[in-house]
Amino acid sequence: MARITASVYTSHVPAIGAAIDLGKTAEPYWQPLFEGYEPSKAWMKANTPDVIFLVYNDHATAFSLEIVPTFAIGCADEFRPADEGYGARPVPVVKGHPALASHIAQSVIQDDFDLTIVNKMDVDHGLTVPLSLMFGQPEAWPCRVIPFPVNVVLYPVPSGRRCFQLGRAIREAVASFDEPLNVQIWGTGGMSHQLQGPRAGLINSAFDKAFLDDLIADPETLSKKPHIEYVREAGSEGIELVMWLIARGAMSDTPPRVARRFYHVPASNTAVGHLILENT
Ligand code: DHB
Ligand code: FE
Repeated sequence: MARITASVYTSHVPAIGAAIDLGKTAEPYWQPLFEGYEPSKAWMKANTPDVIFLVYNDHATAFSLEIVPTFAIGCADEFRPADEGYGARPVPVVKGHPALASHIAQSVIQDDFDLTIVNKMDVDHGLTVPLSLMFGQPEAWPCRVIPFPVNVVLYPVPSGRRCFQLGRAIREAVASFDEPLNVQIWGTGGMSHQLQGPRAGLINSAFDKAFLDDLIADPETLSKKPHIEYVREAGSEGIELVMWLIARGAMSDTPPRVARRFYHVPASNTAVGHLILENT
């Protein structure tokens, strides 16, 4: 059977992708950030899974504001990089896993979570920046990726509680897939940031660090945090953090091993947070 071995959490700041693509990672502004991901890249080399179930948000790249699915699952063979700001990143095409994705869709939808099935889709910085942070700049991504976009752009967005419960359903779905696949689940976006209005540039490190603590030790209580608290404390785009609860919900009930924890400010307008949790 397939099994979820670990979860990875990371911010997805588009300027990080641009810094990698333009060869600026050694510049003084960026160096401490990329240094923080070196141990994670080493961990990833030693723990490359067969498939990553990658929870992220699309930024009006694949889905315009005309159609906005709350939860969507990418079932295609491959997904092309595209981006709304800097243009498509020069990164490899993302290869999917249609059989596992279809199985998860079947299982999770029968479990009463209404997913949108997506058979053709481009992927933006929300998905490609986390891949670059964890894998660097390979010729091809070293494993399959199932993109799982979540709406955190247009209100109403899903609650943290629903995200956490959806993670539980994904866990059951993976565990009932009849192939011995090593699967990781990634939660991306965040941490505190606000890109617009009078509070643009807001960072709340105390909130972010407490979020990391609670995500590790008490995710069930954390999942009850209401939206308004994310927006008030972590900024309008801090709501991206609810996606981390999907990944955390898919982990075992036993306490995880913290393989990596890193926090850095600033990266563009965003606080960067990162965790690797292993199932024990
Ligand atoms: C920035 C951060 C984001 O999460 C995003 O999607 C776009 C921009 C920023 O820090 O500029
Ligand atoms: Fe974003």
